[in-house]
Amino acid sequence: MSDRPFLRAVGIKKRFGQVDALRGVDLQIHRGSVTCLLGPSGSGKSTLLRCLNRLETPDEGYVEIDGVVIGFEQGRKRPVQCSPRRLAAQRRVTGMVFQHFNLFAHLTVEQNVTEGQVHGHGVARNAARTRALELLDRVGLADHAQRYPAQLSGGQQQRVAIARAMATAPKVLLFDEPTSALDPELVGEVLGVMRDLAHDGVTMLVVTHEIAFAEEVATHVHVMNEGSIIESGTPAEVIRSPRHARTQTFLARVTRTDRSDAAAAR
Ligand SMILES: Nc1ncnc2c1ncn2[C@@H]1O[C@H](COP(=O)(O)OP(=O)(O)O)[C@@H](O)[C@H]1O
Ligand SMILES: [Mg+2]
Repeated sequence: MSDRPFLRAVGIKKRFGQVDALRGVDLQIHRGSVTCLLGPSGSGKSTLLRCLNRLETPDEGYVEIDGVVIGFEQGRKRPVQCSPRRLAAQRRVTGMVFQHFNLFAHLTVEQNVTEGQVHGHGVARNAARTRALELLDRVGLADHAQRYPAQLSGGQQQRVAIARAMATAPKVLLFDEPTSALDPELVGEVLGVMRDLAHDGVTMLVVTHEIAFAEEVATHVHVMNEGSIIESGTPAEVIRSPRHARTQTFLARVTRTDRSDAAAAR
């Protein structure tokens, strides 16, 4: 891990009508690190991820990834807003995994992992297919390549979505509650794939309520509340000895839910 942060979000603000979704968020991520973002529903976690990959444009602040300020390019005198084409290229440094998988239902598993490479990145179809099969193997689904999403379990679909997010070789993977839509017995296989990626040094930012996963895999943990990051540190610091009362309340609630989910699954 180098000392220079690989991703920097500086003073990010985002407002929707009367709602201050983000009230000036600073975040730094180092190459090869795994950052978990915790916090109650509505605290701004998804909005922050969407600002990082430019699905949303921040009202204020900026995001710099690998030395590039997203959305801008050097003009003759100063940085200016960049063209949509340049922005599309800049956005490819991030890959996103969503809560609801968002696979194309009419495409096979292999095609889901291939199409973005061919259309978004101009990769030759054969090379894209080879890479798709390698990635499907990596998430344990090589033998499902010719199936359609509806023929897979939720856990398998999410593993395809992870392969798809990696297919275009992003420099950072963003996960927005990747296991929240899954039946409890399918959560483990998805977390297992994410754990393997972490061990392979993939840089990841993960919004999750899986506290045990954060404790085991994360290098850094941040807690959001009402549009701000209220607490940051190692998992041991934030999860074992939270300083902020709101962090304590949040952790008590999600760990209690974890247990009742587990009880319901039995
Ligand atoms: N597109 C939108 N339009 C209006 N309000 C939004 C929009 N996206 C998010 N919000 C609001 O911003 C706040 C933060 O939302 P979100 O980032 O989704 O939180 P989280 O992911 O932590 O649950 C919430 O109050 C939410 O209702
Ligand atoms: Mg969310």
